[in-house]
Amino acid sequence: MTKIAVWCRHDGDNLIGIGAKIPWHIPSDFRRFRKLTESEALVVGEKTYESFPNRTLPNRDIHILTLTPEYEVSDPAHHFVHHDIKDFKEFEPNLYICGGATIYKLFMSSGDKLMPDVIVDCKYLGAVDALEGPRIDITPCIETMEKKYLKMSPDYEQENVLTSLWVKKGDFVDQGVLKKLINIISVNN
Ligand SMILES: NC(=O)c1ccc[n+]([C@@H]2O[C@H](COP(=O)([O-])OP(=O)(O)OC[C@H]3O[C@@H](n4cnc5c(N)ncnc54)[C@H](OP(=O)(O)O)[C@@H]3O)[C@@H](O)[C@H]2O)c1
Repeated sequence: MTKIAVWCRHDGDNLIGIGAKIPWHIPSDFRRFRKLTESEALVVGEKTYESFPNRTLPNRDIHILTLTPEYEVSDPAHHFVHHDIKDFKEFEPNLYICGGATIYKLFMSSGDKLMPDVIVDCKYLGAVDALEGPRIDITPCIETMEKKYLKMSPDYEQENVLTSLWVKKGDFVDQGVLKKLINIISVNN
């Protein structure tokens, strides 16, 4: 398994959400996220899952972390509930860690077996919408990334978003996964 964290953060303040929403609309970023994760396995926190339209994303398996007993998903054939991040220690397929802040922090602070191998770091340079709710940032994850990871691709710019790949220092990463990621983030779509 390769574990890949994917986020889009606002440049400067590492903001990723306000209330339940992402405070910007970048069609190319959504398209690229769909392409990156299509036919793959994703893990998200319950709040991020609830923010998906109709609580789903077609053509991929979604693993939801929640502490709520008896949590009901919208598509039991493809959506799976977990109450403990340790379930992913022996997970076999590649795993895309897709937020929110709580889930990024859990994976980045739960020891080597769960730390992402690769980070797809998207930095949005534009203005942020005024939305209701608390501001949610991932500053602790960025600090960990800057200490423990190596930037291994140049920034690719698209619609005001700079994207690069970071790889955990000293770790072997499946070359096929890296090639796919570089191909997707470097091609304009
Ligand atoms: N910009 C981006 O790239 C991006 C990506 C994803 C999300 N977001 C944004 O991030 C925000 C949501 O982030 P968030 O941090 O508030 O919520 P979240 O990470 O999506 O979900 C948090 C939930 O995870 C569950 N949880 C927490 N700790 C757990 C544990 N140890 N074991 C099992 N489950 C656990 C809890 O669910 P229960 O309460 O059900 O127990 C908790 O409420 C939204 O604004 C969203 O739009 C942005």
